[in-house]
Amino acid sequence: MKLNIAVLAGDGIGPEVTAQAIKTLNAVAEVYHHTFTFKEALAGAIAIDETGDPLPQETLDLCLEYDAVLFGAIGDPKYDNDPSAKVRPEQGLLKLRKSLGLYTNIRPIKAYPTLIDKSPLKRDRIEGTDLTIYRELTGGIYFGEKKLNKEGTIASDLCEYSEKEIERIAHLAFKAARSRKKKLTLVDKANVLETSRLWRKIVTNIGKSYEDVELDYLFVDNAAMQLILNPSQFDVILTENMFGDIISDEGSVIGGSIGLLASASVGDENAMFEPIHGSFPQAKGKNIANPVASILSAAMLLEHFGLNEEAKAINKAVDKSLELNIVTTDLNPDSQYGTEQVGDFIADYISNAEEIINY
Ligand code: IPM
Ligand code: MN
Repeated sequence: MKLNIAVLAGDGIGPEVTAQAIKTLNAVAEVYHHTFTFKEALAGAIAIDETGDPLPQETLDLCLEYDAVLFGAIGDPKYDNDPSAKVRPEQGLLKLRKSLGLYTNIRPIKAYPTLIDKSPLKRDRIEGTDLTIYRELTGGIYFGEKKLNKEGTIASDLCEYSEKEIERIAHLAFKAARSRKKKLTLVDKANVLETSRLWRKIVTNIGKSYEDVELDYLFVDNAAMQLILNPSQFDVILTENMFGDIISDEGSVIGGSIGLLASASVGDENAMFEPIHGSFPQAKGKNIANPVASILSAAMLLEHFGLNEEAKAINKAVDKSLELNIVTTDLNPDSQYGTEQVGDFIADYISNAEEIINY
């Protein structure tokens, strides 16, 4: 298969971890005889520094033209602490999601057997957890009208959802549940929010055409508690933009490190794959960032294009690296392996899957 992949490595550790994902994809291309072409473009703080725009038109055009986008991370502390900043790196990411129509963000979370004791949560709570969050990504409070009065003393962000926005992601979430453990949990705040009541009504209706999927509902505050009390009760969680943002970071604790969590953002025409972690500026250039989230995002990219065996090869190589403790220091403080060494191991493992690699 030929795939053209736009690479937006972005800021902080983005370029380092993305390089490991590309290395891994190149190993896959060689073993399975595919042609993956990569082209880099600017996004985030680095794009603001060079062009004044966090998402230059050239970058957007490339993403629209190419088959998929591999995204690193964006964000820079110099913008976080400046409330008056007019342009922010995050605006680039939000505009990209909106312009590519990436309305569904898929975030799988599982308790890796080899890492169970790395999680701050107790083994018996998290064992067997294998869930996936379907987060709506182009609507809600992130994209509603923003206001600030003249005096700068009153601010508001509108949270708005339309029937169509809820329906399209709901179908994807039900289909995912159907192919997994057949359970869908809608997370909302229907006891308070009108938007949540609309979500409930529409999702309940759609559920009637997925009779084999058990549908239940949780208020987001309770869901936040359940996610660390008893995460193995979940299969697919469907939720709106902001709730999904929050509970997916919370869920990352289950895996032992946010450095393990990959995501896919998909729409009807485009798809983008990115780790859920941020740009971790303190680690930039130190070869300590965990590349696994980026590498697993590459696996989700392959799966998206039906290359399931290839995606499995990556997942297997990652499992092996965890099993052999070839991990970065977030997972093992005494580790001598850095970002690049973990990436090398995973790529080499794919290239020589049949051989025994001496590490
Ligand atoms: C994420 C991030 C983004 C979000 C930020 C960087 C805008 O936290 O992908 O979860 O809030 O969606
Ligand atoms: Mn987030």
